[in-house]
Amino acid sequence: LDRQVRQNNHEKNNFINYKKMSENLAIVRQRLNRPLTYAEKILYSHLDDPHGQDIERGVSYLKLRPDRVACQDATAQMAILQFMSAGMPSVANPTTVHCDHLIEAQVGGAKDLTRAIEINKEVYDFLSTSCAKYDIGFWKPGSGIIHQILLENYAFPGGLLIGTDSHTPNAGGLGMCAVGVGGADAVDVMANLPWELKAPKFIGVKLTGQMSGWTAPKDIILKVAGILTVKGGTGAIVEYMGAEIGATTSLFPFNDRMYDYLAATNRSEIGDFARSYAKELREDEGAEYDQVIEINLSELEPHINGPFTPDLATPISKFSEAVKANNWPEELKVGLIGSCTNSSYEDMSRAASIARDALDHGIKAKSLFTVTPGSEQIRATIARDGQLQTLEEFGGMVLANACGPCIGQWSRDDVRKGEANSIISSYNRNFTGRNDANPATHAFVASPDLVVAMTIAGSLHFNPLTDKLKDKDGNEFLLAPPTGEGLPAKGYDSGEDTYQTPPTDRSSVSVAVSPTSDRLQLLEPFQPWDGKDKLNMPILIKAQGKTTTDHISMAGPWLKYRGHLDNISNNMLIGAINAANGEANKVKNFTTGAYDAVPATARDYKSKGIPWVVIGDWNYGEGSSREHAALEPRHLGGLAIITRSFARIHETNLKKQGMLPLTFINPEDYDKIQPDDKVDLLCTELAVGKPITMRVHPKNGSTFDVKLAHTFNEPQIEWFKNGSALNTMAKAHA
Ligand code: F3S
Repeated sequence: LDRQVRQNNHEKNNFINYKKMSENLAIVRQRLNRPLTYAEKILYSHLDDPHGQDIERGVSYLKLRPDRVACQDATAQMAILQFMSAGMPSVANPTTVHCDHLIEAQVGGAKDLTRAIEINKEVYDFLSTSCAKYDIGFWKPGSGIIHQILLENYAFPGGLLIGTDSHTPNAGGLGMCAVGVGGADAVDVMANLPWELKAPKFIGVKLTGQMSGWTAPKDIILKVAGILTVKGGTGAIVEYMGAEIGATTSLFPFNDRMYDYLAATNRSEIGDFARSYAKELREDEGAEYDQVIEINLSELEPHINGPFTPDLATPISKFSEAVKANNWPEELKVGLIGSCTNSSYEDMSRAASIARDALDHGIKAKSLFTVTPGSEQIRATIARDGQLQTLEEFGGMVLANACGPCIGQWSRDDVRKGEANSIISSYNRNFTGRNDANPATHAFVASPDLVVAMTIAGSLHFNPLTDKLKDKDGNEFLLAPPTGEGLPAKGYDSGEDTYQTPPTDRSSVSVAVSPTSDRLQLLEPFQPWDGKDKLNMPILIKAQGKTTTDHISMAGPWLKYRGHLDNISNNMLIGAINAANGEANKVKNFTTGAYDAVPATARDYKSKGIPWVVIGDWNYGEGSSREHAALEPRHLGGLAIITRSFARIHETNLKKQGMLPLTFINPEDYDKIQPDDKVDLLCTELAVGKPITMRVHPKNGSTFDVKLAHTFNEPQIEWFKNGSALNTMAKAHA
C-alpha cells in the first residue's frame, strides 16, 4: 500500500491513499469492533478525526475529507465565485468542472454545440479562466456529461467524491462513494474545510441469479425504485445499486469488471493497486444493513417506470394493461437514449443491435428518436465502431455530448404545449415538465433496449418479448433479444481533446468577468461583525407556514442569474407568505409606510444602513440545499433569521455566510411577535450552548424579552465574527 499511484491520468500530483485509508479504518475498527459494510469502510477511512469522531448511524454528523470535488457548469458558477472570495491561490483538493448543462438540443450535435458556445460565452469564459487560475481541471462544452467523464477518468474504488449534481452516485459503478451535494459543501472542500454528512444508514441490495435476454442492468434500478419509492432511500447509502430513491449514494464492491474497465480506460495501475487493497473494497462478512432487498436477476422482467415519477414501476408484461387502465396516451412520440445514465459501450451496442435487427427487416423507428452520447469518448468510439451510423440510419438524431433534453434543454416542436403525449427515455428523471416543459407530456423511463424497441413500434402497447412486428413486406417477425460487447475490442477512442489542464504558472491568469454582465458578478467578502449588539431592527417579513429554499430563492427563470448574486437576490423570499397580510412578496417598509416587494424593501433598508431580521415558522429552509437561499439575505443586509425550527442544511448554510440562525426556545413566542415590532439582538451574548436575548419593542405596548437558542460551536462563532466561513479560511491562509 506504500506505492504512489496517481488518481488519474490528468493530474501529476494527486495520489490514491490506500495506506492512510487503511490506517484510519484500523482505528475505527478498534473502536466499533463489528463487521462493516463497504460504504461504512469508505466513509470511516475518510474521517477527519477517526479517533474522536462520534459514529452512530442516522444520528451523528461525520466530518469527512473527500478525495475529489466535481461541479457541473450551472452549479460551478456560484461555487467558484464563493471560493474566489476566500482569497486562496488554488483549490485545496482536486477539483474538476464540466460544461454539460447549458447546451440546448435543437437540430443535432455540432450545430447545437456551436450555438450554446455563443449564448453561454461569458459563463464558459469565466469558468475556463477561473479554473486555470485556481488549478481546477476544466472540461469544455462538448466533452460530455459530468458523470460519464468521472467514470472514464476520475472514479476509483474506495474513493470519496462530492459533486454538485444529484446524479453524482454514478461513480458508484466503479466502487467510489460519490455523493451529490449543494454548492456550499463543494466550496468547503475546495477551501479545505471538512465536509459534514449525517452518518447514513445502509440498504443492501442482494443480486442473485443471472440476467438474460431483454432484461438490462437498468431494470434493477427501475425495480429498486419501485420497491423503495422516491423517498425510501433518504439518509441511506445503497450498496450495489440505487438511483432515484432519494439515497445519499449507491455503490458496487470492487470486482473484475471494474478492473477490466479501469484497464480499458488506461488505468490498469489503479486496478492493480485496488486488487492489493481488495479486502477493504467490499463489505465484511456479517456486515449489518438497516434493510436488505433481494432481487433474483433470473426472474427480473424489463420494467417501464412512470409517468411523472420514476418509482411507478410496471413490468413490461403488465404495461399495456396499465396504459389502458390509466388512459396514458398510446402513441409513442419520441424515444430518447443516452445521457449520463445509459451511455456505456454496452448500452449503445445493445441499442444498436436492436436497431440493426429492424433495419435488416427493412423497417426503421416510427417515433422520433434521439441519441445523446454521454461523452466525446463514447461518441468517438461508437462512431468508429459503427453503432452510431446504425442508430442514425435507423432514424436517430445524434445530439451533443451533454445533458440536453434530460435537463429540459430541448427545443421540441413536434407537439404543442399542453398537448397530452407520451415519450420514453433511458434517462433517470421523468418529473412533470422536466424534459420539454410541457406538463402534459407523459414521460416514461426504461432501459435503452426497451426504448429502441418501443420506438420501432411507435406504441406503448408493444411488448418486444411477445409481440410481433411487420417487416417491409408485411411478414411478421419477433425482434431478437439485444446483444452487445461490454468493452470495445479495439479500445476506446478518446475523440477530440476537450480537456483544459490548468497551467503550472497561474499567477498571470486573470479571471474573465465583465463588469456589465448580468449573469456573473464577482463577490465581495462580507463585512465582519463590528462586535456590538444590534438595536431597534425591523422585521423584514414574518413568514408564516412552509418556507422552503424555493420560497426563499426561487428556481425557474432565476437560474439564469445563479452566478450573479445581486441580480438573483431580486427573488429573495418572494415565495414566503407574510403573516401580516397572508400574501407573498408584499411587506410594509417601516421607513416609508408603503407596501413593496420583499427584495426591494430589504434593499431600501440596506441603503439606509438598517440591518433587519426575518421571523420564520417550523422547519424553515427545508428543500434543496441551495446556497443562494443563505447568500441572498446576507447580501441584502440581513443579520438574523429567527424561527421555530430550521432545516439543518439551511441553518448551516446561514452560519457559513455569517448570519445568525436562531430559534425560539419557547416556540409559542413566535405568536407574540408582530410584523411591525422592532427587535434588539444581544449578539455579544453569543457563546457555545448559551441562549441569546432578543428584546422586543412592540409598536404598541411594553418591551419584553424572548430567549433564543442556537447551535453554533466555537469555530462557527468565528465564522460569524469574521463575516463568513470563507473569510475565516482566508484569514487562516493570510
Ligand atoms: Fe445531466 Fe440528466 Fe445526467 S441532467 S447529469 S444527463 S441526469
